[in-house]
Parts: sequence; structure tokens; C-alpha cells
Amino acid sequence: MSPAPPAAAVPRITRRSIRTPLDGPVVRDEHRDLALDPRDVRFDWSRLPMHWVPDEPMATHTMNVLHLLLPEGERWFVRTFQEALPLITDERLREDVIGFIGQESVHAEAHQGVLDLLPAKGLDPAPFLRQVEWLFHRVLGARDDLAGAAGREHLIERVAIIAAIEHFTAFLGDWVLNAPGLDRAEADPTMLDLLRWHGAEEVEHRSVAYDLLVHVDPSYSRRMRTMAVTGPVLIWLWVRGVRFLMFADPEAAGRGRPTWRAYVQASRRGLLPGLTGVARSAARYVKPRYHPTQEGSTSQAVAYLACSPAARSAAR
Ligand SMILES: [Fe+2]
Ligand SMILES: [Fe+2]
Repeated sequence: MSPAPPAAAVPRITRRSIRTPLDGPVVRDEHRDLALDPRDVRFDWSRLPMHWVPDEPMATHTMNVLHLLLPEGERWFVRTFQEALPLITDERLREDVIGFIGQESVHAEAHQGVLDLLPAKGLDPAPFLRQVEWLFHRVLGARDDLAGAAGREHLIERVAIIAAIEHFTAFLGDWVLNAPGLDRAEADPTMLDLLRWHGAEEVEHRSVAYDLLVHVDPSYSRRMRTMAVTGPVLIWLWVRGVRFLMFADPEAAGRGRPTWRAYVQASRRGLLPGLTGVARSAARYVKPRYHPTQEGSTSQAVAYLACSPAARSAAR
């Protein structure tokens, strides 16, 4: 599989910025005419080794946390956005939300395919998955006991949480499209394609959750409040997930506990996103004139999707 083409090497779709309104977000208008279509991808995992970044169990399992969180997490996105459809009065936004729902549905099933492999490799993910299911169904699920304004408020709060999470999925998508360290480390090509196909679609639809949030509640305070909770909870979940996988992986026995120092060393080798980049990305979300189109490159995402083995075979 070819590494992701660099942003500068692919043709720009359009690359102008507009400011709407004068004191509003700087919106990069590079994918105004982009239609968000799900791609019915398939992956053959028959040759996937446990440590798909060779001899790098911690880097492998740090990224494997995606397979623990995303199947349930992205199904929750889908349920929440389906619930939000009646609130949308803008036809273009409605089309984007429907495209988002389609893409996230496929993402969830693609990561489920990896999750389903783990028990046969001797790693039982069930204890962690029970907690993930509790989070996305019991804590963050729809509530039948709330009606009227209270039900609407609960829905908008969940949309705001998804907008915060989508800021990080776009960051990760942009990172993995520009991570030659994974190619140098000879990471498994099928897993790299899954991560880059998913990352490219995250970059493609990075505005949708934010635009939906602004459509139903443009207030700055809700965006800040939900990020202030979502960011730390995501980090906490991720740390727990890496510890769980390293402990449950029979092939990682004796390889040591995951530490922040080991993470930083792996990020310097280009195997994981740097912590400074993560912190800077979170800080950009706080800017009053933030808009997701300021992150990543739609052109690069579209170019990767044009050469992704899974996306190409889905298109045939
Ligand atoms: Fe996704
Ligand atoms: Fe997404």
C-alpha cells in the first residue's frame, strides 16, 4: 500500500477562506461541494499479527484502543444524529448529517472486524467492552424519562460532546495521513489502510458535528464546557485502554508497563501523535473563531481515498 500522499502533492479542490460573520469563525471553504458518501469497505485480517507495528506492542495497543472504543462509540454517534435529524432546518446540513451517519456506521463495523479477532489471539476484550457499553448506552444514551425541553437539552449536550470528539478524530485522521514513521516501521499494510481510510473520512466529514452543534446551539459556553469534560475523559479512557490491552495481551507479557516516557519515545519515532500536537489541537478548539475546516486537508483526504486499496475495491 502506498503511504498517504502529502498535502502539497495533490491538487487542491478549492482553497479559499471566508469569514462569516465578521466576528465569526474562519471557515475554510475547501470542500463546499463535497458529497459525504459511505464506502462499503472490506478488510482481510487473515494475516494480521498481534503486534501489527512490528516489535512495538505499546504503539500497537495505543492505536488498538480505537478498536475498543469506536464500534460502540460510533454507533452512539449514529443513534444520536438520527435522533437530531428532526431539529435540522437546513437542507444542506441535513444531507451532510445523513452522509456522516452513513460513514460512521461503516467505521464502527470496520473496527468491530478487528475487535472480533482478539479472542482468537488470546486477548479477551470483554471486561473493557462492558465498561464502554455502559458509557455509551447508560451514561450517554437517549433517555425516555426526559421529554420536551429537557429531552432537547440532553440531545444538544450529546451533539456537543460528539463535536468535541470529532475534533480529535479529525486531528488523528490528519496525523495518520501524515505519519511516515508507520511506513518506516513496516506496520501491517491492511491496518494502515484501515486507519488511513478512516482517518481520511474523518477529515472529509470533520465539519459536520460542529456545524450541527452551531445549528442547534451557537453558544460558545456549551462548546467549551463539553470540551472541558470530553478531552480529559478521552485521555483517561485511552490510558485505561492501553493498560488493559498490554496486561491482557499474552504476547506482551514481560514487555513492561506502558509509561508516558515510552509514549513520548514512540511519538519521536513517528509511531504515535506527539503530546504537544495533541495539546495544541485542543487549544485551537477553544478559539472563538475556530472552525473544523482549519484542521487537516480535504484535498489530501480525497487523494488518499482515491488510492486506498479498501476504498478502491469498494468503488468497483
Ligand atoms: Fe469514524
Ligand atoms: Fe467522524
